[in-house]
Amino acid sequence: MPSTQEILSFRRKIYGYYKKNKRSFPWRDTHDPYNILVSEIMLQQTQVERVNGKYQEFIAAFPDFSSLARARLNAVLRVWSGLGYNRRAISLVKLAKTVVAEQDGSLPKDVDKLVALPGIGKATAGSLAAFAFNLPSVFAETNIRRVFIHFFFKDSKDVHDRDVLRLVEATLDKTNPREWYYALMDYGAMLKRGMPNPNRRSAHYKKQPPFEDSDRKIRGEILRVLLAGKPLSAIKIAGTLQERPERVGRILEQLQSEGFVNEGGRGYYVP
Ligand code: ADE
Repeated sequence: MPSTQEILSFRRKIYGYYKKNKRSFPWRDTHDPYNILVSEIMLQQTQVERVNGKYQEFIAAFPDFSSLARARLNAVLRVWSGLGYNRRAISLVKLAKTVVAEQDGSLPKDVDKLVALPGIGKATAGSLAAFAFNLPSVFAETNIRRVFIHFFFKDSKDVHDRDVLRLVEATLDKTNPREWYYALMDYGAMLKRGMPNPNRRSAHYKKQPPFEDSDRKIRGEILRVLLAGKPLSAIKIAGTLQERPERVGRILEQLQSEGFVNEGGRGYYVP
């Protein structure tokens, strides 16, 4: 573990950088737990630049848990389009329904209760606690991990998150967790621009799989076609996408089992 001296010098460095280079985002101008949840779910798998364009549109269309809980999936996916990984949109609607039905419409102020909600993992629960409630939670996402591997694991490979989290806890600015985590994330985003990426030395490092010709790409295209118009048969969709009908049929079945599409008399549609 680092000494008190080392901890103080680490904090000075991170805050020093942040003071001069802090990024401003609309989700940092609010402490509203709903708004912060929406941004955190979007930021999990989508670059900040892309989220920046979508976040306000989403909040305008679905301003709180109750409006999202009542929304049609069709309407939610239309706004979500462009962010990718559409399962997150279904998961957010499900979460909104749970919060309305079981939590009186507001998020609990406690990491353990947050993790118990559907679709909220440890990192999201930790970030919600810090950003919405300014609680000294301990968590790591990709930017934070990068900072700790860069500073504290200079010559290590396969760095495990449990070791990163020990250091996150030891160095945490408990008087100001919200600001501290913004600062860590900004420092981590800066490190990403250098080479090589320190996260390559994380035991949890995964590159996003190739998108071209992936099922993920076809899933997105099927949803785009169905959201644009009337119900369509599998054959029609395959024709539009110039894909093999068997492949489209198989992916439609998956989409149906996950709740993205229904099949009616006139074909597949997004409910
Ligand atoms: N600010 C708040 N949460 C963030 C995140 N997950 N990524 C980048 N900046 C953020």
